[in-house]
Amino acid sequence: MNNNSNNSTLPNTVKNTAPVTLSSLQKQKALKEKTTCLTAYDASFARVAGEAGVDLLLIGDSLGMVLQGNTSTLPVSIEHMVYHTECVARGRVRSMIMSDLPFLSTVSEIQCLDWAGKLMQAGAEIVKLEGGQWATSYVEQLKRCGIPVCVHLGLTPQYVHQFGGYKVQGKKLDAAQRLIEDAQVLENSGADMLLLECIPISVTEKIMNAVHIPVIGIGAGKLTDGQILVMHDLLGVSPPPHARFVENFLTNQNSIHAAIAAYVDAVRNQTYPTDAQSFH
Ligand code: KIV
Repeated sequence: MNNNSNNSTLPNTVKNTAPVTLSSLQKQKALKEKTTCLTAYDASFARVAGEAGVDLLLIGDSLGMVLQGNTSTLPVSIEHMVYHTECVARGRVRSMIMSDLPFLSTVSEIQCLDWAGKLMQAGAEIVKLEGGQWATSYVEQLKRCGIPVCVHLGLTPQYVHQFGGYKVQGKKLDAAQRLIEDAQVLENSGADMLLLECIPISVTEKIMNAVHIPVIGIGAGKLTDGQILVMHDLLGVSPPPHARFVENFLTNQNSIHAAIAAYVDAVRNQTYPTDAQSFH
């Protein structure tokens, strides 16, 4: 039994709202309603985020940076991901739960399936994999086992050393073309969702025209079906320098709940992200 069944202390808006699922996210896309996503790593923040209206919680391997103090996500292990997924699953109210497959998940299809299975057993309802069209066989294997998959494209932080830093991706014509192709091929191989990070808005637009599955963005402009932020960036507790799309939503609010609710409103009303918070 999870906490969804024991919600007598929740506000009415949350109490009366059905749990978010893959099909409700697809419905949101069809209705052109924006999906609100946020990272969470523990039960308390998962609960507050759900009460503030966040649809999708990501247990991101960004925890390696914002919780553990590393300079990249590479030191994060599957054991760390399982532990934080269990914590979030205990606290969530209605949000869907997505967990990151950490660095070296794609050493082999067997390793990927094994680790994804551990995340699902810990409470995830979809796993996220950093990849490109080379990952189609991984997506197919995961889907065969009943594991929904989101593929992360663009600035994939596990590849930071290959990129030579945290840089905007898809700026050159051939790289942009490859991203659009990746998105189409991965949708055809069964991916349920895409996450686009740090790409020019013109490339986002082409991907949005090319695929039918929900697409979440971070630093990818306002055309995606939803937005995601790292909790610590939203609350202004991650150290500078900050990426262009980072906004501290706590500045004008007097509680963490109000800050997350302000972010949710801004995404739904499409006042976040602005043009100035996007790459052109
Ligand atoms: O790990 C993470 O938090 C992420 C987000 C930046 C999308 O992948």
